[in-house]
Amino acid sequence: MSLRNKDTNMEANDKKRNLLLEIYQEFGSRFCDMEIVYGDGNPDSGIVFIGEAPGKDEVKLKKPFVGSAGKILRDFLERAGFTRQDIYITNAVKYRLFRINEKTGNKINRPAKKEDLENCRPYLIRELLVLSPKIIATLGNVPLQTLMGTEAKIGEVHGKKTDIKIEGKEFLLYPLYHPASLIYNRSLEDVYRQDLSGLENLIKQLKAGEGIG
Ligand code: URA
Repeated sequence: MSLRNKDTNMEANDKKRNLLLEIYQEFGSRFCDMEIVYGDGNPDSGIVFIGEAPGKDEVKLKKPFVGSAGKILRDFLERAGFTRQDIYITNAVKYRLFRINEKTGNKINRPAKKEDLENCRPYLIRELLVLSPKIIATLGNVPLQTLMGTEAKIGEVHGKKTDIKIEGKEFLLYPLYHPASLIYNRSLEDVYRQDLSGLENLIKQLKAGEGIG
């Protein structure tokens, strides 16, 4: 790469980071009473993983996927030869989904409601348009349905690449089960491994073809 091209690339990458920051700041001021976690990793990697929503551990460390689901994801990524710095990780819902347990007064996780998806979807869309990844890997139903609508079911589409259009721009979507589903259903482990190896092959093909990362 020539020095001039390198400079232009660096400028584009800085611009991307500034635009992400802008989106996150806007989100932060709109949902200032929530416990928020933004995306993390390498915005230039060309690969974006999208989870559901941050939990207690993520809020504490201000990073997505650092708790038990994050450990499963990291182990699988490592087996496929990736680290967190090879990808960007974000969530469909960027605030913690919780309710208060009336007996204990403690916060307990709750499922995402339609309203949460509607609140957060515009920011996710803007984030994806800025990141402009070659591959979007959704983790579980929440990010899948945020992008594809509620008819999409992870049990039917996991491990199958699909072309999708977001605001007229084409993306390659590769749906995966959510890593936390393996905690409750160990029989999904083989499926998950196969799906990740499908993703690994896809990334290799794209790298060979046009260069990502
Ligand atoms: N589960 C998610 O979907 N996202 C996180 O950030 C952590 C756990």
